[in-house]
Amino acid sequence: MRRRPATSLFSFAVFVFVFVFLAASFSFRASRDFLPSAALNSMALRRPLTSRAVSELLGSPPPPPLDAVLLPDWEVLLVLSPESSPSAAAAAATDTSLFCLFHTGDSSPARRAGAAAFRCSLPHRLRRIRPFYAPRLIAASASSSSSAATGHDFDFPRREMIRWSMPVAYQSFSTEDEVIVFAKGINRRKHSVRPAADIKCVFSPASGGPALAATPATSSAQEAFRCPHPSVRLPSPSRVSLAVALEAAPIATVAEYRRPSFGGRPPSRSRVGICACTMVFNAAKFLPEWVAYHAAVGVERFFLYDNASEDELDPVVKRLGSEGYDVIVRSWPWPKTQEAGFSHCAVSNRHECEWMAFIDVDEFILAPAWSNFNSPNRSMLGSLLAVQPEFGQVSIRCLEFGPSGQQRHPQAGVTQGYTCRRRAEQRHKSLVRLDAIDNSLINSIHHFILKDSFKTKFMGRWEARVNHYKYQAWTEFKIKFRRRVSTYVPDWKQSTSLGSQDRVPGLGFEAIEPLGWTGMFCEVNDTLLQETTQKWFGAVSLEGEYRMPWQN
Ligand SMILES: *[C@@H]1O[C@H](CO)[C@@H](O)[C@H](O)[C@H]1NC(C)=O
Ligand SMILES: *[C@@H]1O[C@H](CO)[C@@H](O)[C@H](O)[C@H]1NC(C)=O
Ligand SMILES: *[C@@H]1O[C@H](CO)[C@@H](O)[C@H](O)[C@H]1NC(C)=O
Repeated sequence: MRRRPATSLFSFAVFVFVFVFLAASFSFRASRDFLPSAALNSMALRRPLTSRAVSELLGSPPPPPLDAVLLPDWEVLLVLSPESSPSAAAAAATDTSLFCLFHTGDSSPARRAGAAAFRCSLPHRLRRIRPFYAPRLIAASASSSSSAATGHDFDFPRREMIRWSMPVAYQSFSTEDEVIVFAKGINRRKHSVRPAADIKCVFSPASGGPALAATPATSSAQEAFRCPHPSVRLPSPSRVSLAVALEAAPIATVAEYRRPSFGGRPPSRSRVGICACTMVFNAAKFLPEWVAYHAAVGVERFFLYDNASEDELDPVVKRLGSEGYDVIVRSWPWPKTQEAGFSHCAVSNRHECEWMAFIDVDEFILAPAWSNFNSPNRSMLGSLLAVQPEFGQVSIRCLEFGPSGQQRHPQAGVTQGYTCRRRAEQRHKSLVRLDAIDNSLINSIHHFILKDSFKTKFMGRWEARVNHYKYQAWTEFKIKFRRRVSTYVPDWKQSTSLGSQDRVPGLGFEAIEPLGWTGMFCEVNDTLLQETTQKWFGAVSLEGEYRMPWQN
């Protein structure tokens, strides 16, 4: 069952790719030997490269070097401080191309990775040279003169990159009386958790140097750690890291620490009833439908945790904003940290939202009773949350839809194109009252652990359901297949997770379209949401087709 006609085409493509790649890297090596590195740069980039160093781009005097993290797959993540990011972002928005310039003179194109970060690939040649030094971000504008980089520019101070394979503190959030530090590599498994008593938060100057203060952790769970603020005044911003056990040096950190400035003042944005939080990667084309639908039934504010999207996320979000939707994007470029992202979303928005729906952009909440109404209204979702006060969480079961005969992304949207699903319910998603969430912030993506005084209410399927467009047309699904997001769920591609619910039944470990994909996962025709949304949003065209407002 594993080898199919598609395989040979795929292998051929792989072969061509590898061949082109080898040929390219050969000519690259060959030219290296007799060209000065600056000239090499211009050649490799095929455009005049002016090595205006980071100082020129981001203002002078030169800002402290950016934090560089070496991610899996030889990806380098450059994290900008909030001071420098606006000008870098501005440069990225113009025709200025940005590059990572390494100490050897090698360079690679830098891509934006959300609002405050860039990514570039570590050039092949450097992958064998240890230690790994952080690159600089440089601008190469096509219009500027071709005065080549001088040797001087490569002479910047060398700093080793932080390696994602090691423990790292990557983000922090300050509440009125605590700092929550997000760090990987300390609690390695679900069931091997370091007690809070072993852990300290350690505060140091932003530019590096010895610790200025430390406070004992009060909570340690998953990748979230809570500590009180230090009593001494620290420069703002500073750094925060974690130290495990008494003597140990703090782990590497890119997490900035700021004392909260609001000091008891109300939050800047008004508090709303229901928000939604989701992790996105290249989900721009799904957003308009997802936002329009959920806003119509009562979600007032959307938080998108952007995992380094490379698609049209910014313009799409901007357009949604101009249409009156409240959509906020936060950069979350950290690999395999979805639980931590949700913990961050819960704790950082508790003054902004009473309830938070934690659902993906391919999931739509629907109550069967809504289909009786001719139009949606903004109290619909709220009516599902009108539960007794002891309920801090409402969990709704998911129905998984299959490709439903589609061969590509349906233009009218997922609610229109996917109408055949598996019979059995799978898992659930939750709406959580943010003040009911346990101090540990523990979540499994599907639900949160609540404070002792709260309970979870499971909705019956007749009351509410989540339509999960999980197995889409192969062109969409194969992208998802390659990217798994959750921390504790092994990759689908790994044979160790054979029994896991996360694996796709009938699918091997390769991203090759299984025979008969378009007809798979189709046990029940289910047009409830398709028909309801046609009635609510659709305009009938001359051909008798429904045109949905999110269609471009
Ligand atoms: C973000 O994307 C990377 C791949 O680029 C992936 O490995 C990681 O799991 C994603 N993280 C989240 C939190 O979605
Ligand atoms: C809004 O929808 C709810 C169903 O959830 C319904 O009970 C209510 O009457 C509707 N309100 C209006 C103004 O139509
Ligand atoms: C769904 O409906 C189509 C056409 O209406 C039909 O051909 C197909 O057999 C149905 N599938 C299931 C699983 O009922």
